[in-house]
Amino acid sequence: MTDDPEPSDLVETARKLFSGPIAFLKSAPQLKFLPDPDYPEVAFAGRSNVGKSSLLNALTNRNGLARTSNTPGRTQELNFFDVGDPMVLRLVDMPGYGFAKAPKDVVKKWRFLVNDYLRGRVVLKRALVLIDARHGIKDVDREVMKMLDDAAVSYRLVLTKADKIKPTELADVHAKTVAEARTRPAAHPEVIATSSETGQGIAELRAGVIEAIG
Ligand code: GTP
Ligand code: MG
Repeated sequence: MTDDPEPSDLVETARKLFSGPIAFLKSAPQLKFLPDPDYPEVAFAGRSNVGKSSLLNALTNRNGLARTSNTPGRTQELNFFDVGDPMVLRLVDMPGYGFAKAPKDVVKKWRFLVNDYLRGRVVLKRALVLIDARHGIKDVDREVMKMLDDAAVSYRLVLTKADKIKPTELADVHAKTVAEARTRPAAHPEVIATSSETGQGIAELRAGVIEAIG
């Protein structure tokens, strides 16, 4: 939903990359299990159930690469996916934050894992911070955005589940989200509206991932 479409050669490069080889590398339940930091990484962050794993599947055009679920709290570890052969980048699917129903110590464990990874990962080129288009930015999202701003980690807000609301509502939440992104020092000024169901915004997001590692 940006005014200027991404340059079409970038979109085409991205399409080719994500329709080529992509392989699950490993799950890291703790920081000590992270893969060596030898390739650029782009990570999916956001509240539980916002659609992180679904968006990773849509981006890579592979159902079931990342496990998804109706029940919040599906993804419990950092999951690394190698993209390209030869390797170009790694995608990282992460546990969600703000999931109140999980036991407190589990929630804490996920939060430390996600926050430590986001703050300290040298090869992390960009975090995609997913926002449910039906709800807009919540305070728990703002906490993560503040942490990323403070740590000077580049991030981009991505609206998810755009198919679940009317186009006029989407335009409204998109405008509000862009306005807030532009007040944030480490946030990309453009916001992509996506749907893993309809494919809306996926080509643009792929191009955004390439741009992030470029
Ligand atoms: P956790 O791993 O638990 O943090 O969740 P997650 O953010 O990875 O969410 P997940 O991808 O598992 O999706 C949660 C639910 O939302 C699933 O039932 C998905 O089918 C649904 N969902 C995800 N993206 C979309 C979308 O774009 N449109 C619609 N209609 N449903 C979606
Ligand atoms: Mg998940």
